[in-house]
Amino acid sequence: MTSEDTTELEISLLLEAVYQKYGYDFRQYSKAHVNRRILNRMKLSGLEDVSQIQSKVLKDETFAYELLQDLSITVTEMFRDQDFYRSLRENVIPVLKTYPFIKIWHAGCATGEEAYSMAIIMQEAGLYERTTIYATDFNQHALNRAKEGIFSNAMMKEYTVNYQLSGGNESFSNYYTSNFDNVIMNQSLKKNIVWANHNLVTDSVFAEVHLILCRNVLIYFDTNLQNKVQKLFYDSLINGGILCLGSKESLRFTDLHEKYTELDKKQRIFKKKY
Ligand SMILES: C[S@@+](CC[C@H](N)C(=O)[O-])C[C@H]1O[C@@H](n2cnc3c(N)ncnc32)[C@H](O)[C@@H]1O
Repeated sequence: MTSEDTTELEISLLLEAVYQKYGYDFRQYSKAHVNRRILNRMKLSGLEDVSQIQSKVLKDETFAYELLQDLSITVTEMFRDQDFYRSLRENVIPVLKTYPFIKIWHAGCATGEEAYSMAIIMQEAGLYERTTIYATDFNQHALNRAKEGIFSNAMMKEYTVNYQLSGGNESFSNYYTSNFDNVIMNQSLKKNIVWANHNLVTDSVFAEVHLILCRNVLIYFDTNLQNKVQKLFYDSLINGGILCLGSKESLRFTDLHEKYTELDKKQRIFKKKY
């Protein structure tokens, strides 16, 4: 057995230990992602091998929490991928308009920027009053921040440009109040967002929804896990419901490819067949 093989084995034992002790299941995450993050934590902590990480994780909850944060990449933006949001306004909003009430699920919402972007779009479309946005993640720390809706003022310049390029015509600063280095998002945007802890790997369907956004989450999963989570999305969508994936994600290699039509192939927007 080479030293790489030994490290692989140690990592799979570590993931098993994390699952058994804490219930977080990373066993089917992409190997490249998991290996990179674990080896990085090993160096940062001055540990010599993965077995030492395992021993520390089992005895030290603070360390386990740090590792959990390492494995959950929460990088996000408001109106990330402006062409996607443009297509959302053009191709998805007209479908949503036909429903008397609208339920939207942001799976893997990180610190909430995506859900606030959606609330803005729904408000501008005159649909927010009849919309509920469920924004979920398994990272409670990120969810707590999302719920506060407090973001760095320094980011607002970039988000304003993103918003405008996504087809927004209002003054973006109408959506928040500045307070020194931070901004706080308006209560009128927060009021129909339900923040909830939900793990895509171990939790089940919790609502029947009209639209799911799961962007830049499945890239961290292996093909089997992607298939499993796609099944969860399929079961959560109403017939004719819409699924939005990230720019590097696809339905092509999943068992459910045939069960959707493409609303916008380039922007990865799919409609569940009737
Ligand atoms: C890169 S962020 C994507 C944020 C946002 N969707 C976007 O595209 O800007 C990935 C998020 O997926 C979440 N995540 C990863 N595995 C998850 C799981 N099993 N269940 C729920 N959320 C998960 C992470 O905690 C993180 O917040």
